[in-house]
Amino acid sequence: MNTLVPVITIDGPTASGKGTVAHRVASKLGWGVLDSGALYRLTALAVLQHDVDPSDAHAVAKVAHTLQVEFHPNGVLLANQEVSALIRQEHVGNLASRLAPNPLLREALLARQRAFRAGAGLVADGRDMGTIVFQDANLKIFLVADVLARAQRRCKQLIDKGISANLEDLLADMRERDARDVERAVAPLVPAQDAHVVDSSNLTIEQTVQTILDLWSRV
Ligand code: C5P
Repeated sequence: MNTLVPVITIDGPTASGKGTVAHRVASKLGWGVLDSGALYRLTALAVLQHDVDPSDAHAVAKVAHTLQVEFHPNGVLLANQEVSALIRQEHVGNLASRLAPNPLLREALLARQRAFRAGAGLVADGRDMGTIVFQDANLKIFLVADVLARAQRRCKQLIDKGISANLEDLLADMRERDARDVERAVAPLVPAQDAHVVDSSNLTIEQTVQTILDLWSRV
């Protein structure tokens, strides 16, 4: 791991806007991005495609070890298949969240995540970026938003994409996922001790990005 490459971590619950914010902060700074959730989603998709038993911790970790992934500016390939849209499906995200407590899986993904620390800098988005993967990050953000605001955002995103969505179902699913991420024994979703908590419930994306850039300018 090259610890000289600066890292900003952005952790937070499902649909807190981390992904969009991480990409915009990275593009302002000319840095790369790690969407760590995509690695959990890719593992979930591969588990589904190869009919692996999700409760078999060793088999799931093996899938993660052997994932053949290529990230491109416009998408992501899994075993040479373009899967950007497939991994965004709700049932894939839901399986990813159910697989995520598996410590063997988390261990299997560690080196892959740390390999993203290259070039001018990295903005890493996930749940445990500041607590586990990049403990020495230069700036740690914990991005929160109330669950209703997040469910409404997700609902709008899906409808904009032409996918039918129901606010009540999304809200229930989000609460369930939050609980699983917060309550799991390994790498739970908690702010790192040195994280700045940013509440985006009443902020636009631009305001959230600016808040993070302001914090970075003071590091
Ligand atoms: O962020 P995203 O919704 O794409 O992540 C999918 C799932 O992967 C999350 O619900 C979470 O359980 C898991 N995850 C994780 N640690 C990360 C990123 C994602 O456990 N660093």
